[in-house]
Amino acid sequence: MDSFLTSNGVALPIVQAGMGGGIAGPALAAAVTSAGGLGTLGMASPQRMRDQLDEARERTDGLIAVNLLLPFLRRAHAQVARDADIVVTFWGRPVRLSAKPWIHQVGSIDEAARAHAAGVDAVIVQGVEAGGHVRGRVPAAELLEQVRSELPAGVPLLLAGGIATADDVAHALASGADAVVCGTRFLMSDESRASAGYKARLRQGSATVLTDLFGLGWPGTHRVLPNAATARWLHADGRGPAAVRTFNAATRPMMSRGPERVQSWLVRHQSVRVPFYTPIPASSSMPDDALEVSPLYAGQTVARIDDVRPAASIVRDLAAGAGR
Ligand SMILES: Cc1cc2nc3c(=O)[nH]c(=O)nc-3n(C[C@H](O)[C@H](O)[C@H](O)COP(=O)(O)O)c2cc1C
Repeated sequence: MDSFLTSNGVALPIVQAGMGGGIAGPALAAAVTSAGGLGTLGMASPQRMRDQLDEARERTDGLIAVNLLLPFLRRAHAQVARDADIVVTFWGRPVRLSAKPWIHQVGSIDEAARAHAAGVDAVIVQGVEAGGHVRGRVPAAELLEQVRSELPAGVPLLLAGGIATADDVAHALASGADAVVCGTRFLMSDESRASAGYKARLRQGSATVLTDLFGLGWPGTHRVLPNAATARWLHADGRGPAAVRTFNAATRPMMSRGPERVQSWLVRHQSVRVPFYTPIPASSSMPDDALEVSPLYAGQTVARIDDVRPAASIVRDLAAGAGR
């Protein structure tokens, strides 16, 4: 039987997660797509995403998806959603943005039901193991079962969180997932635009923390590697100081509406001494001292990955689990 991805022209059931903040650009997305998976551009300004789509298409003839975080949507992103081959959304009220195949990522049964009611074509079920922006509070395999029994049979479910090897892929597909979505594994690729220092920390990383500390302008929960900011400010439960949460909530519209120069000013002025941290990760455009004050997004699989290599070889290895 055709899966959602194969019926849309993607050969392998492997999706690279769209990672915002400049991490997943055209080089990564095109490399994944050329290797037979589905490459996804992370969210950026509408103009930058259109340029990146053009660049990705110069690099590959295959399909390119775009990731859109709904709280940050601007009107001009609608054109991006029309130009892309597949649209992946996350966070916020699910809404179809174009006639292109639409996938929405969810972290709970309720979110899955809302996405289905909104007419989504496929759902990504995100487990709590995931890196980056985390909605899920339940392990991926468990949430997959819950969502499967809630939604009508036939709704394609993709699985995200904790998938980094061929065995993980085989297990996810055997559990009924239509395809897998990997973030951390592709974050640790040559083509991802994580800074060199960030990639070095990922290679050495093992424990991660789930925290709301990096919520200036966008209160949310993220899974990160520890750094000086988390060591200084986190309580044992992963929460930052209550006053910081209140301030973060009050600045909610800032990241979505504020001009980019305000955002980059905030990033440049982050310090270990003052607990106001944006969710913008340490991309290759940031200096190495940003590593102590930026969110070093990483999923739990970081403990099982110790190399950074070309995305095509990662796709090949993951795909070995799809043929079993
Ligand atoms: C560095 C990083 C950035 C992320 N940024 C986004 C994002 O911008 N939009 C999104 O939908 N998901 C984002 N995610 C979450 C992924 O979509 C996915 O749920 C997660 O990576 C899966 O878990 P894994 O990291 O264990 O593979 C991000 C993940 C990482 C690791």
